[in-house]
Amino acid sequence: MNGFIYHVPTKVYFGKNQLQNLGPELKNFGRRVLLVYGGGSIKKTGLYDKVVAEIEKAGLELYELSGIEPNPRVTSINEGARICREKQIDVLLAVGGGSTIDAAKSIGAAAYYDGDAWDLVTRKVPITNCLPVVSILTLAATGSEMNANSVISNLETNDKIGVAHPGMVPKVSFLDPTNTFTVSKYQTACGAADIISHILEVYFSPDHDLYMLDQVMEGLLRTVIKFAPVALEEPDNYEARANLMWASSWAINGFIRGGKQQAWSCHPMEHQLSAYYDITHGLGLAILTPRWMEYVLDETTVAKFQQFACNVFGVDCRLEPMVAAKKGIEILSDFLFDTLGLQRTLSELGIDDTHFHDMAEKACRGGVINGFKPLNSQDVESIYRMCL
Ligand code: NZQ
Ligand code: ZN
Repeated sequence: MNGFIYHVPTKVYFGKNQLQNLGPELKNFGRRVLLVYGGGSIKKTGLYDKVVAEIEKAGLELYELSGIEPNPRVTSINEGARICREKQIDVLLAVGGGSTIDAAKSIGAAAYYDGDAWDLVTRKVPITNCLPVVSILTLAATGSEMNANSVISNLETNDKIGVAHPGMVPKVSFLDPTNTFTVSKYQTACGAADIISHILEVYFSPDHDLYMLDQVMEGLLRTVIKFAPVALEEPDNYEARANLMWASSWAINGFIRGGKQQAWSCHPMEHQLSAYYDITHGLGLAILTPRWMEYVLDETTVAKFQQFACNVFGVDCRLEPMVAAKKGIEILSDFLFDTLGLQRTLSELGIDDTHFHDMAEKACRGGVINGFKPLNSQDVESIYRMCL
């Protein structure tokens, strides 16, 4: 069992009617606020007006950057960094989903760098600092509200790359489940698939870690499996949205990882799909995950799949391990594609095998993905083919 450091210094305001704390919290970091948001959902829902009112009430100076794309582009990061330098911004306020929060984090880092932000994403130049980021989450999925990661895309090079820096962890996050009532069925389903994947990427590991953390992960998985369908049927069900929201944060804030060191498997494969085809992250993960499971299931991995099937889906633990394991994968597929209603194959998205070779090479970065089972580029290509 490996040791680990756990340090997540995000102050979380969870629940309804917490926005009166926004102004005082922002003021702790200075006077000049850059509000970062996406394609306009926050204007439609009325959240934008509420946020602006709080900023004005606090007597802060407000600047704006809108139009952050799902799968945020480096061009938006460069634009945001330019505004930060020009207006001497003190604090970034991200209002939106993972894309907006990720963008704010990279903007905060790029504000300290007088060049192309892509240099920071590709690690050509190390990140040295980051402006403070405050977030108001509107979509339960990525956990960006409580972690150090930022995933940025470059359409010119077909790249999507994640970076992390301790300074990028949001200082304060407002998690009001009512802000997710308006998330579409499709994005709710994709968000649920993303949360599930964040847990599975850690759960399935060659490292034997803490029994306690396995129990937490199984509980988080059961939570998402219980409440995602409720949120699909009743978008304004507070209990369902609250459970999904808090599960999204805890699935990827470092807690469940404990001392596990292994790489993730489905995320590097999915990031190539998003990079080449600009698809929704959670959808790519939903299509890949059951195929990856089938691919890596063998005598050496069966015990963990059996545990997953029995403890998460209640499969009879007296069944033969291989039978139970396969049943677990089948039930997960049914959940993702039938219950959540996500598309089952890449072909349905109009994706063929044209770029699979290049995508697989990129996913492996010239080596192997050292996850639950090591995957070389041929393995990755085979998994992409299983998704057609
Ligand atoms: O842009 P707006 O108009 O806000 O609309 C968004 C967008 O179209 C909409 N939306 C968000 N909240 C809404 C809403 N619509 C109605 N009502 C609301 N309350 O939903 C669409 C998708 O938003 P986006 O932010 O792209 O979704 P998500 O939160 O899933 O973020 C995905 C991005 O995060 C990265 C992904 O790769 C992808 O780029 N990830 C970030 C991670 C991290 N920081 O740790 C880890 C993840 O594994 C992931 O890679
Ligand atoms: Zn993810």
